[in-house]
Amino acid sequence: MSIVIGRNIIELDTVDSTNNYAQQMLQNKKLEDGTVIIAHKQLSGKGQQGNLWESKEGENLTFSIILYPDFIPPEEQFYLSKAISLGVVDYLKTEIDNVRIKWPNDIYVDDRKIAGILIENSITRNLISNSIIGIGLNVNQSVFPAHLPNPTSMKLKAAKHFNINSVLKLLLTFIENRYLQLAIDRIKPLNADYLSNLYRFNEFQLYKANDEQFEAKIVDIEDYGRLVLVNRNGEFSSYDFKEISFVM
Ligand code: BTN
Repeated sequence: MSIVIGRNIIELDTVDSTNNYAQQMLQNKKLEDGTVIIAHKQLSGKGQQGNLWESKEGENLTFSIILYPDFIPPEEQFYLSKAISLGVVDYLKTEIDNVRIKWPNDIYVDDRKIAGILIENSITRNLISNSIIGIGLNVNQSVFPAHLPNPTSMKLKAAKHFNINSVLKLLLTFIENRYLQLAIDRIKPLNADYLSNLYRFNEFQLYKANDEQFEAKIVDIEDYGRLVLVNRNGEFSSYDFKEISFVM
């Protein structure tokens, strides 16, 4: 298997959301595997759980990658999320320390979010027929709106300005390496790397679920992506993304 993520790049000045744009294009034709749609400005960038993704025009990366991961059964789609998160982390580690994946696929540096990933898969006849991988990476933005909970950027962490095009090129090669690793070696090496890069892995911290706050530590991620915690009494429990929140 060989694909080149970013061989075909569609550059847009302004768009509502690169994920939506990709979705619309795919309704009309099949785009080359690895096509990247990048926008300088998104008018309503989509985040997880119906949130907006806010990014200052021209300072950051907001793009979507189109992939056809038909080798992944739909029930294993979380592995795609693992591979992409690891690609982003691998790249950021070349520039910044303390980069981690906050389950399921936020990218954190220390206790602050530097990148977000929104993966939208289309499933037809029990196959992932296409996947739109939306990535927002804060590159040169150094002032953020006050209502954003805990943002940071490459510039704030590395104390230097980055060339956005060079960041994109390198980032895409790291993502491609992890995607090929998933396609060729399958999941075992990715699982180990995902856990070893996981924010708060194996440390007791506060979580909130069912309106209750409790102390527990992350010990595993199930195949379908559920978070596995163990509390101070040694009791295990697992949670879906919408069922639990991290108390910061
Ligand atoms: C998150 O909530 O953390 C996910 C954010 C994903 C944002 C990116 S920006 C490019 C792509 N297009 C979108 O509308 N969203 C994703």
